[in-house]
Amino acid sequence: MTKTHAQRVFSGVQPTGNLHLGNYLGAIRKFVDMQHEMESIYCIVDMHAITVWQDPKQLRDQTLEIAAAYVAAGIDPDKAIIFQQSAVSGHAELAWVFNCVARMGWLNRMTQFKDKAGKDKERASVGLFVYPNLMAADILLYRATHVPVGEDQKQHLELARDIATKFNNEFGDEDFFPLPEPLIKGPGARIMSLRDGTSKMSKSDPSDLSRIVLTDDADTIAKKIKKAKTDPEPLPTEMDGLEDRPEAKNLVGIYAALAGMTDEAVLAEFGGEGFGKFKPALADLAVAKLAPLTEEMRRLRGDEAYLEGILRTGAEKARVIAEPIMREVKERVGFIV
Ligand code: TRP
Repeated sequence: MTKTHAQRVFSGVQPTGNLHLGNYLGAIRKFVDMQHEMESIYCIVDMHAITVWQDPKQLRDQTLEIAAAYVAAGIDPDKAIIFQQSAVSGHAELAWVFNCVARMGWLNRMTQFKDKAGKDKERASVGLFVYPNLMAADILLYRATHVPVGEDQKQHLELARDIATKFNNEFGDEDFFPLPEPLIKGPGARIMSLRDGTSKMSKSDPSDLSRIVLTDDADTIAKKIKKAKTDPEPLPTEMDGLEDRPEAKNLVGIYAALAGMTDEAVLAEFGGEGFGKFKPALADLAVAKLAPLTEEMRRLRGDEAYLEGILRTGAEKARVIAEPIMREVKERVGFIV
């Protein structure tokens, strides 16, 4: 008999670099929707951030910026839990246990480590290598069942399931941890660079024109859309006309995600039009949708006491869930508690 675990959402965003449109449409907006469907825990993963060098002052600033973005986007701190990973010691404790459950071979297969460590693996931090174990601990510390993440995190989530399975088998309860499911699909799931429709919009792209960040003002948003790479053809009327046109496809997808429409509906409206007409419409829409959000972020960002209060209360609520689970982990492992 397998017992069913209560449905619970967990996700995390790293406080590194400015939040961009891809983070908003692909992650944060989904978090806002999920909070109405099940108990939701949204973490700012500062411990993951320091797996690569972070300036301490900037880390602090960016942690508050994400808290502001969460609240400005519509995550209700009375409904969902918003907190900072380092404030709940269970993350580090469970990550250690998982460092001893996961196998070197499993981690050696992680493609993100290979990408992030680059050529000189010897100089990467040990933390970067065991990053996925900490991520598994984040999720399983709360017995979360659903994890909204980008496509790039799918492999890490599979590892979390492998860790959960091995722990369950070795420590005598096949249902101790749930096997968490990724929630990947949905509008805005893959927002690509404005300069290259084949690579993801990313905070590490050297070109500022490749992304719209949530601190851009209206003129900057309009300029970046105007300069976005396109092709000379007008927009097609059907979806298959977007094949092999990654930049056109991306702009249509952004329009659809911002407007809450399907891609097909966007093509029904703009099919046959050139980018000379579509880009200004997209720029107006982006400004109209993002301006209230960025303005509210700026206002909240000015009230540090309020944001710190939200994080403190969130961490207390997170601890209440985590502590009994961590206690049972320790007992099962054989630590005297
Ligand atoms: N690795 C995730 C990312 O970079 C962030 C993250 C850390 C996360 N812990 C998590 C996401 C737990 C989901 C669940 O996007």
